[in-house]
Amino acid sequence: MFEIAPSILSADFTRLAEEISAIREGGATILHFDVMDGRFVPNITIGLPVLKSVRKATEMTIDCHLMIVEPNRYAAEFVRAGADMVSVHVEADPHLQRTLTAIREAGGQAGIAINPATSLTALEEALPDADFILLMSVNPGFGGQQFIANSLSKLRRLSAMIEERGLPTRIEIDGGIDAKNIKTVVESGAEIIVAGSAVFGGGKPTEAVKELMDAATIWA
Ligand code: DX5
Ligand code: ZN
Repeated sequence: MFEIAPSILSADFTRLAEEISAIREGGATILHFDVMDGRFVPNITIGLPVLKSVRKATEMTIDCHLMIVEPNRYAAEFVRAGADMVSVHVEADPHLQRTLTAIREAGGQAGIAINPATSLTALEEALPDADFILLMSVNPGFGGQQFIANSLSKLRRLSAMIEERGLPTRIEIDGGIDAKNIKTVVESGAEIIVAGSAVFGGGKPTEAVKELMDAATIWA
């Protein structure tokens, strides 16, 4: 089973509540919330005040992807502000185990996000402390980038790594997912599929979510 997690980074922020209702109507269950600080990544996006408003506007699972330096300072705060899932980058946190534990203790699901050029070996020791891994299939910072081809082999290796250890860890994939490659990533072990421009880019988010779900399940 897989779930679609539209990234509201590509939504129309002047009509955020409508955009959220539209993806829900299409069948999306998770809302992906990209937090960027202009330091870990070049871009600056949204943070705690917007999260608190979004929390009031929807019952959907809110998944906060923290692309920030020193995520240990803020991770649990995002859970308290309404996030159900919070991921922190392995590249940004020398005390990852502590941060993941803090997210769980605050009542959230803890995730480790990993950049395209970071080896999966960086995940090994912390894997049991994570509920999910967010595998980046583009370099974080912007929506609308192209899927990096090597991500597919990395996804399969991560899936095998989790299976070998008998862990319940879920895999989320983020970046450059569209109706053409969604089936392959689902078949390769991804269970949570983030999509920004593929959902909001065409101005019809309800239809776009349905199209992605159909493309992932079509028998061919
Ligand atoms: C990239 C973000 C992604 C992005 C996905 O830094 O983490 O979540 O919004 O957008 P698309 O699907 O357009 O690549
Ligand atoms: Zn993201």
